[in-house]
Amino acid sequence: MAHPLKIAIFISGRGSNMVSLLEACKSPDFPAIPVVIVSNQPDAPGLQTAQKAGIATTTLVRSEYPSRKEYDSALNESLNEHGVELICLAGFMQILSKDFVEKWHNRILNIHPSLLPSFKGLDTHQRALDAGVKFSGCTVHYVRYEMDTGPIIAQAVVPVVAEDTADTLAARILIEEHRIYPEALKLVASGDVRK
Ligand code: GRF
Repeated sequence: MAHPLKIAIFISGRGSNMVSLLEACKSPDFPAIPVVIVSNQPDAPGLQTAQKAGIATTTLVRSEYPSRKEYDSALNESLNEHGVELICLAGFMQILSKDFVEKWHNRILNIHPSLLPSFKGLDTHQRALDAGVKFSGCTVHYVRYEMDTGPIIAQAVVPVVAEDTADTLAARILIEEHRIYPEALKLVASGDVRK
């Protein structure tokens, strides 16, 4: 196998998608390895999970930098230090600058808990319920500057049931997120995706 692709996983919270990626990367023939977990929140619970797993972590808080440019430099410096080749956003709740997204063109993936292009942005599950859709799901895609846009790599569909709340729908979708994100990463890292 060619060398495994070095990935960074960006988180802001609990990091359950991060865990699903870390688990997949443990498999000896998986084409990617995690080299650093990046958080923009010092108290993200996922940071501790990553530390326990022995993965390097770094926290970069936007408000601690005088400008977007300096924040991006710090981000890039940290990624270069670890030799990162691909970024996986996994519940990273901060918009990346246009410069950053362009610099990493086709080298940033994201997971979003809806069937894009429907329900971009926040409060996805409640908006899906309010719209009365009968199916929802999740999407892994390449990141472009416009939020929740970019070529789609993988999707999974789940039914919406009459009794659903945003929480029950989110839980049903999350199971699929944990399944398709590692699958999509595997495709990308193996070079099996057309952009
Ligand atoms: C997931 O639903 C993901 O799709 C969305 O934010 C949530 C993050 O959850 N972007 P976790 O931190 O991976 O558990």
